[in-house]
Amino acid sequence: MSFRNLVVGAVIASLFTSRVRAVDNGLAITPQMGWDNWNALGCDVSEDLLLQTAELIVDYGLQDLGYHYVVLDDCWSSGRNASNNNSLIADASKFPNGMAAVADRLHALGLGFGMYSDAGKYTCGGYAGSLGYETVDADTFASWGVDYLKYDNCYNMGQAGNQQISEARYATMANALNATGRPILYSLCNWGEDYPWNWGSTIANSWRISGDVYDNWDTYDSRCPCTGADAWNCGLPGFHCSITNIMNKASFIVSKAQPGAWNDLDMLEVGNGAMTDAEYVAHFSMWAIAKSPLIMGNDIRTIAPADLAILSNAAVIAVNQDPSGSSAARRWIYGINGSDPFTGPSIQLWSGSLKSTTGGAQSDMVVLLINGADESMPMNASLADIFVDNGPGGTAPQVKMSWEVRDLWANRMSDEEAAAIIAASSGTGNVTTGYNATEVGAGRYNATAMSYAEGLAANSSLLLGNVTTTLAPSGTVTATVEPHGVAMFRLRALPTGMMRKRDEL
Ligand code: GLA
Repeated sequence: MSFRNLVVGAVIASLFTSRVRAVDNGLAITPQMGWDNWNALGCDVSEDLLLQTAELIVDYGLQDLGYHYVVLDDCWSSGRNASNNNSLIADASKFPNGMAAVADRLHALGLGFGMYSDAGKYTCGGYAGSLGYETVDADTFASWGVDYLKYDNCYNMGQAGNQQISEARYATMANALNATGRPILYSLCNWGEDYPWNWGSTIANSWRISGDVYDNWDTYDSRCPCTGADAWNCGLPGFHCSITNIMNKASFIVSKAQPGAWNDLDMLEVGNGAMTDAEYVAHFSMWAIAKSPLIMGNDIRTIAPADLAILSNAAVIAVNQDPSGSSAARRWIYGINGSDPFTGPSIQLWSGSLKSTTGGAQSDMVVLLINGADESMPMNASLADIFVDNGPGGTAPQVKMSWEVRDLWANRMSDEEAAAIIAASSGTGNVTTGYNATEVGAGRYNATAMSYAEGLAANSSLLLGNVTTTLAPSGTVTATVEPHGVAMFRLRALPTGMMRKRDEL
C-alpha cells in the first residue's frame, strides 16, 4: 500500500471512529412524542410543574398514546459550580430535590426526562450555555438520568453562517452525548439556520426547520422571514412563525425526514387558546403527516376537553408513527380568489404513503385537504393527484384501482368523554357526563402495550378511522372542509377480487 493510500485510509478510519452517528443511536425510529413547558409557561419552571404534568400525562391516557418525554425547557439552572469541574447547577429554589430526583420520578412513571441547553455562551433566556462545556454538561445530564436533549442556538459567538460551522458546533455535543454511553435523544434547535436538514441527520435525531412557532394560523410577521415560494431557500432564524408559514417551509424539505432523523416543525400550540378548534385540528394533522415530533406545548394542568380530544386522536397519531417513516408531500396549492397562494389564503392537497394495513402489496395513503379560506369549501382530490409520485398525469397504476376512504377524524373523542377523563383524574368523579370510572378511557389505544406498528399490522379499528365511502378507478375524494380546517383520510386498497366483481357488475 502506498503512503498516500495509508494516509487516506487513516483519515477515513478516524472519520468513522470519531463520529458516531446520532441517527444510529436507535432512538426516534418514529418521531418523538412528549411535552415541553415553553410554549405555555416560558421560564415558569419547577419540579412541581414537571411532576404534576407527568402524572396527568399518565392519568389522561396520553402516555398510553405515545407521549413519552417530559421536556424541561430554558431557565432551570443557577450557573456553574467552579469547585465541581464547572458543572451546571440546578436552581435549588425551582428544583429543591435536584434533577436526578426528577428523572427518577419520571422514570418510575415510565416516562423519559428531556433537558434543555444551548450551543452558545448563554441560553436564550440568558442562563449558562454549553458552548465549550459540552463534555462536562453531557456527563452531568447522563449522571442525572436525562433521556433527551433539546439544544438551542442563542449566543453562539458567531459560530454560524455556513453549514460546516454550525454542523461542527452541534457535532461537538453529539459526540459528547454519545461518549456518555447513555442513549440520549438529540434534538437540534437551531431554527433552520444554516439548513440543518442537510446535515442534521448525520449527528442528531431531529432539527428545527424554522423560527419559533406561535399560536396563530396565518398572520404575516416580518420577524419570521421566508413566507413565500422562496421558503425553500430559508437558512434564516426568526420567531412569531404561524402554522401555515412553518408548513410551507416543511413542504420543500419533506424528503429529508427519515427514521431516526426528523424535520422538527416546533412544539404544538394545541390548547394554548389563540386558535379555533378547526385550526388546532389542522395544525395537529399537518404536524402528524409531515412526521414532525409531536411535543405538546400546552399547560396540561388546565387542558380543555376539546384539546385533550385532539391530542388523543390515535388514528392521526398512527400516521405520524407509521413504520415506513416517510413524510407526506404537498401535491398542489392554489391561492383563493386569485391571491398569491404563498402569501394569501390557499387551499392545498398533501398525500403520503403509509405502510399497508390490508396485507397486500399496495401501501395505504394519507390524504390531507387544507382549507385556508375564511369560509367552508367543497374540496376534492383526484387519485391522479394523490398518486402523482407513482406516475404523472394519471398514469400511476393506483389510479386504476379501487379504494376504501377512511375519515381519520370521524372517531374523535367526544368533549363529554374527555371531560370525564379529566374529572376522573382529579378524583372528583363525574356523574353528570354519564361516564363512570371503569368506562372512562376504556377502549382507547394503548401504544405502550401494542406499538403503532403492531396495531396497524393487526388492523386495530382504533387506528383506521371510519369508512366513509369507496372510490372506483379514476375516482375523486371529496369533502366539505371547515374554514382554516382540514379533511384527513386514510386510503386502503380494495382487494383486486372486489374490483373485478365491481367491473363485472
Ligand atoms: C428559543 C427556542 C424555544 C425556547 C426558547 C427558550 O427561542 O427556539 O423553543 O426553547 O429559546 O428560551
